[in-house]
Amino acid sequence: MPVRTSIPPAARIRTFTYAIRNIVVEAKKVEASGRKVRYLNIGDPIPFGFKTPPHLIEAVARAMRDGHNGYTASAGVEPAREAVAAEYVSRGVPMTADRVILTSGTSEGIELALGALADAGDEVLVPTPTYPLYTAVLAKIGARAVFYRTDPASGWLPDLDDIKRLVGPATRAIVLIDPNNPTGAVYPESLRRSLIDLANRTGVPILADEVYSDLGFDGPTPLLGSLDPDAPILSFSSLSKAYLAPGWRAGWLTVGRTDRLNDVLGAIKKLADGRLCSPGPMQYGIHAALTGDRSHQRTFVRELRARADLTVSCLSRVPGIEVVAPSAAFYAMPRVRLPHGRTDEDYILALLRETGILCVYGSGFGLPADQGYFRVVFLASLDELRVIYDDLEAFTGRYLAS
Ligand SMILES: Cc1ncc(COP(=O)(O)O)c(C=O)c1O
Repeated sequence: MPVRTSIPPAARIRTFTYAIRNIVVEAKKVEASGRKVRYLNIGDPIPFGFKTPPHLIEAVARAMRDGHNGYTASAGVEPAREAVAAEYVSRGVPMTADRVILTSGTSEGIELALGALADAGDEVLVPTPTYPLYTAVLAKIGARAVFYRTDPASGWLPDLDDIKRLVGPATRAIVLIDPNNPTGAVYPESLRRSLIDLANRTGVPILADEVYSDLGFDGPTPLLGSLDPDAPILSFSSLSKAYLAPGWRAGWLTVGRTDRLNDVLGAIKKLADGRLCSPGPMQYGIHAALTGDRSHQRTFVRELRARADLTVSCLSRVPGIEVVAPSAAFYAMPRVRLPHGRTDEDYILALLRETGILCVYGSGFGLPADQGYFRVVFLASLDELRVIYDDLEAFTGRYLAS
C-alpha cells in the first residue's frame, strides 16, 4: 500500500456546510488586516451584553457544589424532565417526563430526531431559507433535504401547496421553524392547523423547532402541540435564546403522546444512550429556568422589538434594499437587488472587506445566490446598529453603482 502524505477525511464531509460559522474564516482575515469586524452573523445575545439570569447561574453552581458532576441518566435528571413536561402542560400540550429527553441544546435534539427518523436516501422537508443545521445533519446521515418554499411576499410564510406536493413515500419528517430563524416570521394558527392536518393524514411527523417561542414580540407563541395533542409532533427548545445561556448547551426534546411515535421515542432513547448524557450541572439550570422567575424575558423582548423596528426603518430606506418586518427573535432577512451576474456571497464579502460588517449570505440558508438575500442579527445596541446601518447604506450605494 502506498504511504499517504495526507490523510483524507470522509467524502460526505464535502456536503456538510454551515455558513454562519464558515464565513468567520473570512472575517478573521479582515481582522488580521487591521480592520474591526462587527459581527452580525451569530445569534448569541451574550457578546452583546445580555446577561444570563443570576438564579440560573446559582442553580448550576449549586449543582456542581452539591456534587452533581457525574454522568446523568441518558434522558437527563428527573426534576428537569418533570419541569419540561410541566412547562408543556401549562402551555396546553399534555406531556409526561418519560417523553422528554434533555439534550445538548436544540442542536442535539435535531440531530437525535433526524438520526432516529431518516435513513440514507430518505427525504426530510426543510424550509428555504432554513436554519442550516438541518441540511448539515441530513448530509451527514446521507438523507436528502427537500426544500419547501417560504414566501417573502406573504411575510415568509410556508407555501402549503408546495409542502403538500413534496410529501411522498420517502418523506420521513417535515421541519417547521416557528418563530423562524432566519426570517423572524411567526406563523398564523390557520397555517399551523393545515400542517397538523397533513401530518395526521400522512403519518409524517412534524419536527417543531420552538427555540424562539418565548421571543414573539406580541408575547410567547403557542406551542404547536397545543393545537392537537394527538398529532405526531416532536418539539425542540433550549435555554440558549430565551434564557440567555447558549454556551451551556442545555436543551430538550419532547415526543408527542400519540402511540404512533412510540417506536421513534424508543429509537431516540437508544441514540441518546450512545452519547451518555447532556451536560449534567446545566440540567439543573433547566429546572431553575422553567420553575423560576422569567421577568428577564419581558425586558429582553422589549429590547428586541426596538432593534427590529430600527432595523426595518433603517434598511428599508436604503435604495435597492427591501426587508420584511420580523415578528420574533433577533433576525431579519433583507434583500438587495443585485446587479446581473453578482451573488449574495459577492455582496456580503465585499461588505465585510470594505466596512467590517459581517452578515451571512442567503445562499448559506439555501436561497438562490442571485436573489441577494442576507441575514442580519440585530442584537447590537441601538446606537451601534444605527452606525452599522449607515455604513451599510453608504456601501450599498457604492456597490450598486459600480
Ligand atoms: C432555529 C434554530 N434551531 C436551533 C438552534 C440551535 O440552538 P441551540 O443553541 O439550542 O442548540 C438555533 C440557533 O441559532 C436556531 O436558530
